[in-house]
Amino acid sequence: MDKLMINGGQSLSGKVVISGAKNSAVALIPAALLADGPVVIENLPRIQDVQIYYDLLKEMGADVLFEDDWMEIDGRPLKHLYIPNGRVKKLRASYYLWGALLGKFGEARVGLPGGCDLGPRPVDLHMKGFEALGARIENQNGVMSITAKQLKGARIYLDLVSVGATINIMLAAAKAEGLTVIENAAREPEIVDVATLLNNMGANIKGAGTDIIRIQGVERLHGCRHTIIPDRIEAGSYMIAAAATQGDVVLENVIPKHLEAVTAKLREIGVEIDEDGDTIRVRGHGKYRAVDVKTSPYPGFPTDLQQPITALLTQAKGVSIVTDNIYGARFRHVDELRRMGASIKVEGRSAVIDGGKKLLGTKVIASDLRAGAALVIAGLLTEGTTELEGLEHIDRGYEKLVDKLYSLGAQVTRDSSKRTAH
Ligand code: EPZ
Repeated sequence: MDKLMINGGQSLSGKVVISGAKNSAVALIPAALLADGPVVIENLPRIQDVQIYYDLLKEMGADVLFEDDWMEIDGRPLKHLYIPNGRVKKLRASYYLWGALLGKFGEARVGLPGGCDLGPRPVDLHMKGFEALGARIENQNGVMSITAKQLKGARIYLDLVSVGATINIMLAAAKAEGLTVIENAAREPEIVDVATLLNNMGANIKGAGTDIIRIQGVERLHGCRHTIIPDRIEAGSYMIAAAATQGDVVLENVIPKHLEAVTAKLREIGVEIDEDGDTIRVRGHGKYRAVDVKTSPYPGFPTDLQQPITALLTQAKGVSIVTDNIYGARFRHVDELRRMGASIKVEGRSAVIDGGKKLLGTKVIASDLRAGAALVIAGLLTEGTTELEGLEHIDRGYEKLVDKLYSLGAQVTRDSSKRTAH
């Protein structure tokens, strides 16, 4: 079991290049299957979730080439449409195969997804969308069997703002007969990225990025080339790490507009942030102010960064309250931060932090992807050595983490020794 050894207390400084967005990549790859020709996706991050999708598509018989940071996908030779449970268990975003295969073949048989431990991860809104388009759904021992003779456009209202359901309905509706309107759609940049790819393939999608998306079904979709947008969550994680270590870091290959809520909150805390084109400079100095954070769908403060910013707020003197309005159980990092000496407790769907206390390096375990990011940040800001296990979670979403941190002056090494008693 690998672990990170973090010798904290160094201020991060220098430049870091942000990779392509994980939450785009895991949707763009299955979306490419809809084309009657090869699709090239560039700026792919080399992370576990992308590797799992590559393996899945190979197993399904697609022609896939994955070199450096680009993947060429040709779904025409796809043989079998049944995806065994095992593979998808490891990949939450495997559910995009439902929309892609349904949209392409009129049928999809894919196991229910696995993924992070953030509490319940229902998919009822995905199913509501598919049924509205005319699909029949059966849950056959955890394998969703979704079939439709002919998908027909429909007006679909999402009771909750859901990134996954919005994207999945777009995938299924791209070649349906007639007009589909998604109301109360999610507005995340990753949704715009998927709509851009589909339109480059010949789809007719309008309104992505707003809460009403119109999809006029088309007969066929063709191959194309697409470059993924930068990962705003990876970028936010490095911004918070720079602030937490009183550093001076320039992030390159970012879209500042995608980070407005994060920038505003960090400035409120007392972090100095300058935007310039596709770069953001983050300087942390002096005392930080305790603040309240409330997550909400884009363009609000992202739930994926509530855990990392909690690590920073342990250093802001005073009481901060971090409330996650999207995942009410996304607090498994709190116990680990307490082991490091943080004065923090969970009340309902909030973490209440009594900040300003020094943390101490110790052994901690990441339980999910962004909890892992929070613990890396806590280790970086803490004097002494922090030993972090659970890297299989972090590897899902942070490309070249050790290299990037090392180039910013962090003293971090990855130790592949056997698991020690915790
Ligand atoms: C996406 O998950 C992201 N994952 C998550 O990032 C992110 O936290 C989340 O959006 C919210 O921004 C990917 O894009 C692969 P949702 P998704 O559907 O699509 C409820 C990370 O760390 N809901 O927007 O699964 C759901 O329980 C990951 O990179 C239903 O009730 O999230 C949640 O409370 C973690 N029924 C809320 O909606 C449904 O059918 C938002 O979920 C679907 C969702």
